[in-house]
Amino acid sequence: MNREKIRKAYNELAESYNKLIDHKPHNAYYDRPNTLSLFESVKNKSILDAGCGPGKYAEILLSQDAQVTGFDLSSEMIKFAKKRNTNQGTFFVHDLNEPLTMLEDNSFDFVLCALALHYLEDWSLSIKEFHRVLKEKGQLIISIEHPFFEYNYYKSTEYFKTEPVKCTWRGFGKPVEINSHRRPLGECLASITENGFYIDKLIEPKPLKEFEKLDRKHYKELNEFPAFMCIRAIKK
Ligand SMILES: C[S@@+](CC[C@H](N)C(=O)[O-])C[C@H]1O[C@@H](n2cnc3c(N)ncnc32)[C@H](O)[C@@H]1O
Repeated sequence: MNREKIRKAYNELAESYNKLIDHKPHNAYYDRPNTLSLFESVKNKSILDAGCGPGKYAEILLSQDAQVTGFDLSSEMIKFAKKRNTNQGTFFVHDLNEPLTMLEDNSFDFVLCALALHYLEDWSLSIKEFHRVLKEKGQLIISIEHPFFEYNYYKSTEYFKTEPVKCTWRGFGKPVEINSHRRPLGECLASITENGFYIDKLIEPKPLKEFEKLDRKHYKELNEFPAFMCIRAIKK
């Protein structure tokens, strides 16, 4: 089952992912600054970080006086999220494919889901649950792999299909196979707009200058074609 493969892969990756996440160019100087730019002030706001990984986003949001609850499929990632944010925030293991029964209706100002949704075959249950736990006019902030990038990267020939894809990550020490799902842009947006949200802002991000010093090749490529997409959606 795909979810077991993903859990195993992220459990294996967790230690080096946690070690590298502060400065890994695609995260630190591409995804995070662009996704975080979608938040207005988070001071005293409650944030659910879905697919929180080793808690780097949580660390930043907690440092800005937000209250953060994070969950992840990988128990190893959750260990690092707790260690990174000792005595702050709440972190637990949970699968995005399952209802968030432990969380109350209308309890969060923001839901953040960074670079995690593409692991799911179907986003609708997660988006419905994000809608349920958000307060009135609460904001869903997500980053995903750009559907056009994935279509090219995975050499797909069936744009309109949602299909399982896999690749091997070599940037975290030992190579690890990563299984996910690619889908067309319309499917990504419909999952959001058909489950109680309107889209308020969409960014096709550009890398920060710091990226160039660490990885010139990808800096150039990301200035020519986006790999990620960041979206802010508001609960209707
Ligand atoms: C690329 S990492 C991103 C981590 C974090 N959001 C960040 O940006 O630093 C993807 C994370 O999604 C988690 N993930 C994958 N599938 C998941 C699922 N079904 N439920 C919860 N988390 C999941 C992985 O374990 C991993 O920690």
